[in-house]
Amino acid sequence: MSEASKFLLTDSQIPAVWVNVLPSLPEPLAPPLHPGTHQPLTPQDLAPIFPMELIEQEFSPKPEIDIPGEVMDIYRLWRATPLYRARRLEKALDTPAHIYYKYEGTSPAGSHKPNTAVAQAYYNKRAGIRRLATETGAGQWGSALALACQMFGMECTVYMVRVSYDQKPYRRMMMHVWGAEVFASPSEQTNAGRGVLAAHPDSPGSLGIAISEAVEDAATHADTNYSLGSVLNHVLMHQTVIGQEAKLQMQMAGEEADVVIACFGGGSNFGGLALPYVLDRFTGKGPRIVAIEPSACPTLTKGKFTYDYGDTAKLTPLVKMFTLGHDFMPPGIHAGGLRYHGASPLISHLVKLGHIEAKAYTQLPVFEAAIQFARTEGILPAPESAHAIRGAIDEALAAKEEGKGKVILFGLSGHGHFDLSAYENFISGKLVDYEYPGREIAEAIAGINSGV
Ligand SMILES: Cc1ncc(COP(=O)(O)O)c(C=O)c1O
Repeated sequence: MSEASKFLLTDSQIPAVWVNVLPSLPEPLAPPLHPGTHQPLTPQDLAPIFPMELIEQEFSPKPEIDIPGEVMDIYRLWRATPLYRARRLEKALDTPAHIYYKYEGTSPAGSHKPNTAVAQAYYNKRAGIRRLATETGAGQWGSALALACQMFGMECTVYMVRVSYDQKPYRRMMMHVWGAEVFASPSEQTNAGRGVLAAHPDSPGSLGIAISEAVEDAATHADTNYSLGSVLNHVLMHQTVIGQEAKLQMQMAGEEADVVIACFGGGSNFGGLALPYVLDRFTGKGPRIVAIEPSACPTLTKGKFTYDYGDTAKLTPLVKMFTLGHDFMPPGIHAGGLRYHGASPLISHLVKLGHIEAKAYTQLPVFEAAIQFARTEGILPAPESAHAIRGAIDEALAAKEEGKGKVILFGLSGHGHFDLSAYENFISGKLVDYEYPGREIAEAIAGINSGV
């Protein structure tokens, strides 16, 4: 076995296709429903906010979709991303486990998000769209889309969840540098935002509210479409370049993963790494796959698997997913990108089918893991990604306890260079653990009332 710590691919080894697991599912996904009629959604229902090529990808029966040349030209700026073996972390943990991580923080925006942002901007540009509207939590997605729109000469409007807007001025400035306009959400720009502000003038915002604003903006402007950074099938599919590359790199390392771990917000970095491995599981060969979420927003571990809206104003289709209820107001924990009430319907389905496990952590052990990682491997992780590190460290410690070798692969979805105030709060002891109270989760779930 190689003594190397870094496994790199050449440009010609960047995957030429995105992988689509829909045609291989052992049971089909429950169809998304029209929010008004509750009938299965037709491609035409989505046409006011998405370009037809992305709508086709959302429901595609093809097992693979070619990555267009113009998208590939941009991917080549930072792809393939490196795979590392965390030898120094292994040593610090004194574990027999081998730990590998696939690092997406080398993209210009600092996370996995440009993998789909570039693809979405490309298809919208081809459809003659002038501007994209979107929401952002932590600011990672908004900055990725701002970058992608800039690359294709499009305008970009970002509704940024109020708490993040205040906590992360530098993410906002990054979006400005790439030419986007950014509004704190809830905003005065939309009916959805004005409605929330009238009832709660001090609302910290939520992804559900910001999605309502961006969808409304797109639906009410003919030259504008909506772009979503997670949750949907086509978004996860664009991210599968991560898992395809990781598989090649694990081969270079001469190892096979026993367990694959990634953090879970809406499911895009998780799906990107995990879905190529899920295909192996369908043939009885794949590794264990674990999604890690925050206890403050425990969608997969405590949510209900049911039809719900993706946003607060009920503008989006109804999808069957694990949900805490579209009115769920997550607390302002620092991993802003993991504070979504719902989850990818595809990943929810795979959890239901037993192919994916889910685990939740409170934020103090997550930041402890982030610091241990930064002090051993050097990279300062995004708080979202640190959830995966926690999961990987605990797997490695369990292997030590059992005295067993184990190969762990986890997704390091981004760097935390814009999250230093969260690190400061942790280091100065200001951060507290928070688990969303079971009673309030039950209330939020009882309020789903989607009528389906
Ligand atoms: C670095 C990073 N990782 C993970 C996530 C979670 O999103 P997803 O579940 O779509 O990967 C985010 C969201 O903003 C993020 O910024």
